[in-house]
Amino acid sequence: VYENSTTASKAVAKEIANLIRVKQSQKQPCILGLATGSSPKGLYAELVRLHKEEGLSFKNVVSFNLDEYYPMEPDSVNSYVRFMKEQLFDHIDILPENCYIPDGTLPKEEIRSYCDEYEAKIEAFGGIDLQILGIGGNGHIGFNESGSLQNSKTRLVALDHITRVAASGDFKGLDNTPRTAITIGVKKIMEAKRVILLAWGERKSNIIKASAEEEVTSRVPASYLQEHNNATFILDQAAASKLT
Ligand code: F6R
Repeated sequence: VYENSTTASKAVAKEIANLIRVKQSQKQPCILGLATGSSPKGLYAELVRLHKEEGLSFKNVVSFNLDEYYPMEPDSVNSYVRFMKEQLFDHIDILPENCYIPDGTLPKEEIRSYCDEYEAKIEAFGGIDLQILGIGGNGHIGFNESGSLQNSKTRLVALDHITRVAASGDFKGLDNTPRTAITIGVKKIMEAKRVILLAWGERKSNIIKASAEEEVTSRVPASYLQEHNNATFILDQAAASKLT
């Protein structure tokens, strides 16, 4: 629990920078699992600063984003491709061919095999070294909504009403908000060697309590992280305020 989201984000950026440098010294790629949304914005800003001011290179980084709305064009204002470029990729030296984000433009019948290939690609790199997560008000991680099983695979999912309402501001109303998304499944998240979940503000405090201190249940997919051997919730004081 940190004083505020800025100090917390800096601490997470430091851990990521250390991991990237260790992997560089071993001449290994560093495989990062990345999230979008408001929670990681400060983290990405700090990583950009570390690149610009402290010479941190991302040339050995390979990134896999958790999710993308479906359908979604990459150059649309609300696409996660656009988000990642604006918040991180355009400001660092990561190689564009090393940035994987689920493709929101595929014909529906191709999604299943595409998702299998997305997982196979992660496996080909030896799995995710460090996975960044946010958390939805319903406990979703990625877009693994309530009811997602612990062994769920990367797949097309229906978004919960609560998730769509949360996103509806960006889409100028619920009617324009996508109903589906492609998400990495819970299984690949649980297979990551290290997991860091970020949550800020009072509005996350109830779901943080449920995820960290109550039973492990498919109703709250973030609660599965209790069973991960190297997962940390990084919180500001408001998000931590309901913990005992
Ligand atoms: C985004 C994602 C989602 C968000 C979650 C929290 O890639 O997978 O699970 O992390 O909805 O969103 P914010 O951070 O905007 O509160």
